[in-house]
Amino acid sequence: MADLSGYRKISHAELDIAAFDGDPAKRWAIMQETVMSILRRYERPRVMDLAMGPGLDTFHLLELGCEVVGIDLDGHTVDRARRRADELGLPLDARQMDWRDVASLAEFHAHPFDIVVSFGNSFPAYLHDDADRVRTLRGLWEELAPSGTLLFDMRNGEHILGERSAIAADPEHAFRFERASTYLGNRAMAYPGAYLDHNIVRFIARNDVDQTYAEVDLWVASRDDVASLIHRALGDVDYDTLMDYGPVHPGHYDFAQYILRNPS
Ligand SMILES: C[S@@+](CC[C@H](N)C(=O)[O-])C[C@H]1O[C@@H](n2cnc3c(N)ncnc32)[C@H](O)[C@@H]1O
Repeated sequence: MADLSGYRKISHAELDIAAFDGDPAKRWAIMQETVMSILRRYERPRVMDLAMGPGLDTFHLLELGCEVVGIDLDGHTVDRARRRADELGLPLDARQMDWRDVASLAEFHAHPFDIVVSFGNSFPAYLHDDADRVRTLRGLWEELAPSGTLLFDMRNGEHILGERSAIAADPEHAFRFERASTYLGNRAMAYPGAYLDHNIVRFIARNDVDQTYAEVDLWVASRDDVASLIHRALGDVDYDTLMDYGPVHPGHYDFAQYILRNPS
């Protein structure tokens, strides 16, 4: 267990998520080709940014000319994103809501999305219950327009689960690839603090600048686990899996991306 003495525990909602986002330019340089190849298929796409957080990617999508609806459960985060949108003069439609309720909004049925994205190990990692994951994925799928695309990314569960003994013994060092991650800067780190049941891992998100940390329990999945989820929720859909936004499987990767296409 890493030593957290001198660090103050805060709630996950209070965490300065921006500190964990890393350098936006670097992040988008890595994601660019994959995300742009999706955006190019549509003319001024309507995009749902699920788990927008403070909006790092949301604002980039707006600047690229997308119509964006940003969704997050945390009201504080949604307020921050709204204020920033006002400052930048960008037309963000920010909603405080739970992903699990997205499917029940008649408004979205009437006006579906060309693209649904969830960046930064968000959907479905924050859902601990298998039935919730299946139901939510189905719900999101229903909000996609014909020929729409759903993209979500998840941390490399094969590493986190496969190396659990080494990581549990010395998480801060055994999980050290975070410094090169697409999603972490140099001021903050996140690592598994405890392995709970059913692929749920308690992560420690630690900010070295203000010496705070928060705990968050996340569903950690291998690519097989995600394949099973997709299959059970949507049947035989066509989807691609990328590693670190590339098609090649390198020796190690931080994130896998799942790109699902609605054929109808
Ligand atoms: C890791 S942050 C990702 C933020 C942003 N996408 C990024 O990459 O920087 C995950 C976000 O998911 C939100 N979240 C977690 N569970 C949710 C749920 N059930 N419905 C909506 N948002 C949720 C949290 O409030 C948090 O802002």
